Amino acid sequence: VAGPTLRTARLKLRPAMAGDADLLRDHWNRPEVRRFLWDDEPVAAETVDAALAQSDADFARAGHGLWIVETLDIVSETAFVGFCGLRVVEGTDLVEVLYSLEPSQWGKGFATEAAGAALDYAFESLRLPRVVGGVDPPNRASHRVLERLGVAYFDTLVLEGKPAEYYEVTAASRPAPST
Ligand SMILES: CC(C)(COP(=O)(O)OP(=O)(O)OC[C@H]1O[C@@H](n2cnc3c(N)ncnc32)[C@H](O)[C@@H]1OP(=O)(O)O)[C@@H](O)C(=O)NCCC(=O)NCCS
Repeated sequence: VAGPTLRTARLKLRPAMAGDADLLRDHWNRPEVRRFLWDDEPVAAETVDAALAQSDADFARAGHGLWIVETLDIVSETAFVGFCGLRVVEGTDLVEVLYSLEPSQWGKGFATEAAGAALDYAFESLRLPRVVGGVDPPNRASHRVLERLGVAYFDTLVLEGKPAEYYEVTAASRPAPST
């Protein structure tokens, strides 16, 4: 995999590999995760394989893709926390930030921390002018994550026939580092 590993105070984001397929499939099929990330549709093995192949291609082509998020806490029994990604919104030239965490890991600030690292990388290393984030209106937890990352309303994009509200983050709209 050609992508970089990113680190934060508590987390490591490593490029997802083909060997992560089972892990991601289990994670993405958890009801709480699937509900918003996958429109509540079951996630098939082929879908996961395609996402991983796309990620590999994207890392090679554009320097971004999907990362597996792991905790750096070496005493905890499970390193796997969730995933975070930067991916092109189909049919556009916009890059969106995606994330989901294991439900047992919600409420610790990990999504904000992981997505923040992906955004810093997007602006500082890839020099993207903006990254967007799409949210289903009832997905309050994801709204709060995007608000903490520093977003402003961007546009309503109609994707596969359904309108989705998109928010944009730019380097200028990011909150100053808290450290
Ligand atoms: C969206 C999702 C990742 C959010 O997870 P989350 O744990 O609520 O988000 P964060 O990691 O930012 O955690 C923030 C919460 O942890 C709390 N928290 C605890 N310790 C914290 C810390 N050190 N730093 C920041 N927040 C902390 C905050 O108070 C906050 O709670 P609040 O939102 O009630 O104010 C999660 O709900 C999820 O996986 N959903 C399913 C998939 C999905 O919808 N993905 C988005 C579509 S792209």
